[in-house]
Amino acid sequence: MIEKLESIKNEALESINECMDEATLNNVKSKYIGKKSVFNEIMSEMSKLSQEEKREVGSKSNEVRNEITNMLELKLKSIKDEALNKKLENDKIDITLPSKKRRIGSRHPLTIVREQIEDLFISMGYDVVSGPEVESDLYCFEMLNLPKGHPARDAQDSFYITDEMLLRTHTSPVQVRSMLANAEKKPFKLICPGKTYRRDDDDATHSHQFSQIEGLVVGENISLSDLKGTLELFAKKMFGSGREIRFRSSYFPFTEPSYEVDVSCFKCDQKGCNICKGTGWIEILGCGMVHPNVLEGCGFDHKKYQGFAFGVGIERVASLKYGVTNMRDYFTNDYRFLKNFDRKEM
Ligand code: DAH
Repeated sequence: MIEKLESIKNEALESINECMDEATLNNVKSKYIGKKSVFNEIMSEMSKLSQEEKREVGSKSNEVRNEITNMLELKLKSIKDEALNKKLENDKIDITLPSKKRRIGSRHPLTIVREQIEDLFISMGYDVVSGPEVESDLYCFEMLNLPKGHPARDAQDSFYITDEMLLRTHTSPVQVRSMLANAEKKPFKLICPGKTYRRDDDDATHSHQFSQIEGLVVGENISLSDLKGTLELFAKKMFGSGREIRFRSSYFPFTEPSYEVDVSCFKCDQKGCNICKGTGWIEILGCGMVHPNVLEGCGFDHKKYQGFAFGVGIERVASLKYGVTNMRDYFTNDYRFLKNFDRKEM
């Protein structure tokens, strides 16, 4: 029996040694020391032995069982260690790999255009000012010579917050604000870029929020030719040095006379195309000489002082410059649209 136990031990240890995974190891375990194992078979025959033999076989069987159990434990540990090492090896992070490219945004086309216009006017000595987007009816309309009930108010369906407060429909109220703030009534030149709001249904050519730049110059001996010269520079800077402008008579309550200004088509050089609709000219802004009522209402003596003013839509200029046909593109923050504007020469 002792020999049998010895040979079970040797066989078992050899089998354990050959095991490569946990499942085979468990099979080996039940084969040699499990309930129905050869080992237990021998044990069941113990009762047939003499007292002396029982002691001997008993101690041998303990020794064999312990050795097999120890060996099983050691092997199990080594199988687990190996599996863990393999996993660590496979899951290893290669910190030398190049990282994913981060998509860097670009300046928004409306910002590019606004800054170009600001640069031009700053170079001519203008101040850049701002005004509130929530504006009073008084500054937005009344003091701009648009009293309540004036038909021109219909054209500017507005977002009223109270009877007297609204989201500004244009940047022109800044004219009133800056003239009133000018306590000493000194000559000045300024532009005011900013957001404006009208109750339009949003589509490819309309947006309830858009942006304008207002221009205002007040001083002595300011004439229409100053306005023309200024806007000609503006057109050349924004649309190319070969551009010309023309003035068409128009009507704004806060200027007299009032004009709409067209720029000669930069796409077809006035041969006629889809942008200028075959006319050779593209409308870009409204302007005029500040109305005496506005000057007087803001404390400027209209006999001594004159002024010119203009208002230009930033989206309009950007769309013409960059061929943007859908207004919504400016407001949806789509990376595919915006990345078109990351070039230096924009
Ligand atoms: N405020 C006008 C508008 O939103 C644009 C405008 C026209 C502004 C003539 C002016 C101006 O300063 O003189 O349609």
